[in-house]
Amino acid sequence: MRADSALTGQTAVVTGVCGRLGQVWTKALLRAGADVLGLDLREPEGPVAKELSACGDEESRRFVFHRADVTDRAGLRDALGHCLDVLDAPTVLVNNAGIDQPPSAESGSWTFENVPDERSAAVLDVNAAGVLRTCQVFGSDMAGRGRGSVINIGSMYGTVAPDPRFYDHIELTPPFLKPPAYGMSKAGVAALTRYLAVLWGPSGVRVNTLAPGGVLGGQDAAFREKFAARVPMGRMAEEEDLTGPLLFLASDMSRYVTGTELTVDGGFVCW
Ligand SMILES: NC(=O)c1ccc[n+]([C@@H]2O[C@H](COP(=O)([O-])OP(=O)(O)OC[C@H]3O[C@@H](n4cnc5c(N)ncnc54)[C@H](O)[C@@H]3O)[C@@H](O)[C@H]2O)c1
Repeated sequence: MRADSALTGQTAVVTGVCGRLGQVWTKALLRAGADVLGLDLREPEGPVAKELSACGDEESRRFVFHRADVTDRAGLRDALGHCLDVLDAPTVLVNNAGIDQPPSAESGSWTFENVPDERSAAVLDVNAAGVLRTCQVFGSDMAGRGRGSVINIGSMYGTVAPDPRFYDHIELTPPFLKPPAYGMSKAGVAALTRYLAVLWGPSGVRVNTLAPGGVLGGQDAAFREKFAARVPMGRMAEEEDLTGPLLFLASDMSRYVTGTELTVDGGFVCW
């Protein structure tokens, strides 16, 4: 099977499409021949809109945006209606929308005992319950039609704890802590993946987690150096490291694979 035509005729849905990785998944799906419905809280604009239509005229016609919040099930049902009206029945679902907290003075920092309830609740609601709701709406439609592949975007922090030493050069009081609810939410995503793989196995819908490691982006030099030193392959992930695993899980290349977590982290969780 050729990767550039592996998804011809398929309709993919990507949540959090305007974010960093949402754009990476979308471009890869378009290039592999799928039509894509992108969902996000905010419209693609400026460089994001340009990026999402940068694959050429033909691909940009196959990309449709719909504003939707993964914490709102009724809104997700509207998005499914839009998908059926303007594209087709969904056959691939990438649950990518997520919130995290970067280490910065603007985002604030707390000791563990003082992390505000509303911060933890928001992370769990979007990252974990948001995946559940989106699966209830789009995944159930796939199961009813007897085919589909769901890819839930997890994180290596669903498996290992963040290393506080990555952040100890950042001058914040109290010192920066990665939100404790982040790893909780991602471990929950992996559990939901197994639950749905069992539920929908007989209906022809496969469900897997893709768990990226740290992706090279706007991190400071000291963080990058400490992080890379901790990765067996000696570097952070680049965007191109992620697209092959996504297309593998989305397409029939993985037709007998369900309920797994594919970690794409250069070996980070091995030691
Ligand atoms: N970037 C990384 O290094 C990394 C590593 C591992 C896992 N991940 C995971 O990959 C996914 C994407 O990460 P990213 O770096 O692209 O993040 P990002 O912040 O760039 O993008 C997230 C997108 O989700 C959208 N979003 C947030 N709340 C939403 C909601 N309620 N409904 C709909 N959309 C919503 C945001 O508007 C944004 O466009 C997340 O699930 C994240 O946890 C990222």
